[in-house]
Amino acid sequence: MKKIVFVAFAAVLTFTGCYYDNMEELYPALIINNNCDSTITPTYSGQIREIINNNCVSCHNPASGNAYVLDNHQGLFAVATSGQLVGAVYQRPGFQAMPPSGAPLDDCQKALIRKWVEAGAPNN
Ligand code: HEC
Repeated sequence: MKKIVFVAFAAVLTFTGCYYDNMEELYPALIINNNCDSTITPTYSGQIREIINNNCVSCHNPASGNAYVLDNHQGLFAVATSGQLVGAVYQRPGFQAMPPSGAPLDDCQKALIRKWVEAGAPNN
């Protein structure tokens, strides 16, 4: 009897141990994070504005006195075309890492920003 219980227990362990229900492993090309899909062509109104509003505008708004006002396309366009936007969110040497504290943007959000900047940072 003991042996049967042990075998059953081992079987449960084996099956549960081998079963992964992980989106990133099941669909490696599609990284789903904050509903973020890095395979799309991002637009300012579709994805970029929301990422910036949620992570950056608390500091980068007209009332804060920050040198960079990023709550509108014109302000974001300026740091996009200067190289500062990608440098800051990828936390590259020579740039102030953004956001300055807390978790960096996730890889999908960074990829969308980079794609949009490489497309000329359009107001689309
Ligand atoms: C907690 C406040 C805060 C948050 C959140 C924040 N920033 Fe900043 N950011 C700053 C400050 C402070 C500076 C320095 C400029 C100044 O002092 O006026 C700065 C500078 C920058 C610069 C210029 C960097 C350089 O090295 O030239 C960029 C670009 C920038 N931020 C983009 C962003 C983006 C994009 C986000 C969101 C992912 C973000 N920031 C989030 C406070 C913040």
